[in-house]
Amino acid sequence: MARTNGTILEARLLSLRFGAIAALRDVSIQIGAGKIHALIGPNGAGKSSLLNCLSGFYVPWKGSVIFEGRDISALRPNLRAQAGIARTFQGIQTYPGMTARENILTGFHGRMTGGVFAALFRWPAAIRQEEAFTARAEEIIDFLELEEHRHTMVGEMPYGLRKRVDLGRALALEPKILVMDEPMAGMSPEEKAILARYILDIRDNFEIPVVLVEHDMEVVMDISDQVTVLEFGAVIADGTPAQVRADPRVIAAYLGSTQSADAAAVEVSA
Ligand SMILES: Nc1ncnc2c1ncn2[C@@H]1O[C@H](COP(=O)(O)OP(=O)(O)OP(=O)(O)O)[C@@H](O)[C@H]1O
Ligand SMILES: [Mg+2]
Repeated sequence: MARTNGTILEARLLSLRFGAIAALRDVSIQIGAGKIHALIGPNGAGKSSLLNCLSGFYVPWKGSVIFEGRDISALRPNLRAQAGIARTFQGIQTYPGMTARENILTGFHGRMTGGVFAALFRWPAAIRQEEAFTARAEEIIDFLELEEHRHTMVGEMPYGLRKRVDLGRALALEPKILVMDEPMAGMSPEEKAILARYILDIRDNFEIPVVLVEHDMEVVMDISDQVTVLEFGAVIADGTPAQVRADPRVIAAYLGSTQSADAAAVEVSA
């Protein structure tokens, strides 16, 4: 592995535009190995856009993405997933007509080697791989405590449970980093507490760093090692939860200071 100085994933001076809108303006971020890194900021600040640039779904017009010391800017999303960057999306991404276990098994798709023919003709290598995936799916079901729900249709599950299955699908990739967009949106406080515990366990037991977008400040301050704050497509603060909470620009952004909003609006339209 190339030298990374403890950084596993990094964005360097990313800029992204949608017509007149500057979704990202020279955004740099460093995700530390073994860290929970939260991305916060008001609606439209560019949080999802940044995650999409990290996972390859959006292509910035400027800047680069470095993963384990390697420039992956030119890699398509499926290749970034294969390299170990797993992603969950805003809202629900599970298949409602499939069971929890089947949904988790779909997560292995990106890791199948040997192709369709090997699977179709049940070549020994394909069978071995299928067995390994099935065993791993069971580990994930255990870890996420989904045992009693493994044969339940996901469409019949409450929201919090469905998001847990979605997380299981992402873990099936055996990722080196997990990127989650608002995994707790729409959850009850109890569901949030459960998911927060799994995220901490993913960091501590699997040693997988997690980047997550989250609006609930209490959760962010509780579980994050590092917090980056975006506003109008730019990073306005970056540090530990305590540092970020005390930052005057963050306080202004969250209290909706008209001064900073006006200044950013002028810059965007310029
Ligand atoms: N596919 C797209 N096409 C056009 N504009 C887009 C697209 N994706 C994002 N944008 C715009 O880019 C800006 C940043 O959006 P983004 O979704 O990254 O914000 P966000 O911080 O994730 O917001 P939220 O908290 O509401 O999810 C917004 O002005 C948004 O309208
Ligand atoms: Mg978003």
